Amino acid sequence: MTAIAIVRTVADLRAAVAAWKKAGERVAMVPTMGALHEGHLSLVALARTKAERVVASIFVNPTQFGPNEDFDAYPRGEARDAELLAGAGCDLLFAPTVAQMYAPGFSTRIDVTGVSEPLDGAARPGHFGGVALIVAKLLIQCGPDVAVFGEKDYQQLQVIKRLVEDLDIPVEIIGAPTARAPDGLALSSRNAYLTPAEREIAPALAAALTEAGRRLRAGESVERVEATGLAALERAGFQKIDYFEVRHPADLSRLGPGPIEGEARILAAAHLGKTRLIDNMAVG
Ligand code: PAF
Repeated sequence: MTAIAIVRTVADLRAAVAAWKKAGERVAMVPTMGALHEGHLSLVALARTKAERVVASIFVNPTQFGPNEDFDAYPRGEARDAELLAGAGCDLLFAPTVAQMYAPGFSTRIDVTGVSEPLDGAARPGHFGGVALIVAKLLIQCGPDVAVFGEKDYQQLQVIKRLVEDLDIPVEIIGAPTARAPDGLALSSRNAYLTPAEREIAPALAAALTEAGRRLRAGESVERVEATGLAALERAGFQKIDYFEVRHPADLSRLGPGPIEGEARILAAAHLGKTRLIDNMAVG
């Protein structure tokens, strides 16, 4: 079993990073909520190509979960995660407690307007405020040269880019391609909630996005492509569809209703039983 150093306080994290920087080493950070899978390990692999040292964090952040969401049920397993990170060549795991991150009296909020408002911002009120807050804290605490986030959470990635630019946080944000199962399903810690029957249906989300991309490239209108995508998800058996939309790839503003002229991103979120799946694809 390979071991990885685990620190739980900001002071210990800063001491480790300061020693590496003093030795002239670049540091990359991979923030996660644990329950790691191949997708997370691909983020670590990418981080390793960008810096001599890689820090991963595991923190199931309460402020990004709504009152009726899965904070308590979210899968946790630090020992297994630590082993996976060590095997992937990660140098340090930062695994703080809730008290370390949100001390008594904590009262700061961050609101990234615009890009965080539609899509998941509308479906999960308060979610991106919590994400922006914890990511800002992690980046300030660690002070990495680069930080890697998965494109599976595409809107989150755009919110974080905006946050870092607006707050002058000196870090390069890198998006990593979505890791997928052989049948196309985007890897996600929440896939663990799917029943065998739901797992059969789940790849229809990626399939609908792929088909939508094909139609957009063929010149079909955004309006038609979105309607066809929604219908495909309903037919496949998704019970509730939060959105299936074609958006601008950077600011996520609406495109259409006619054919697209430049690049676009198609984003979708839909529910299967108690699991909410999200996925997205680039066009152009
Ligand atoms: O994508 C995630 O796992 C989380 O939203 C993040 C970025 C680690 C913040 O808690």
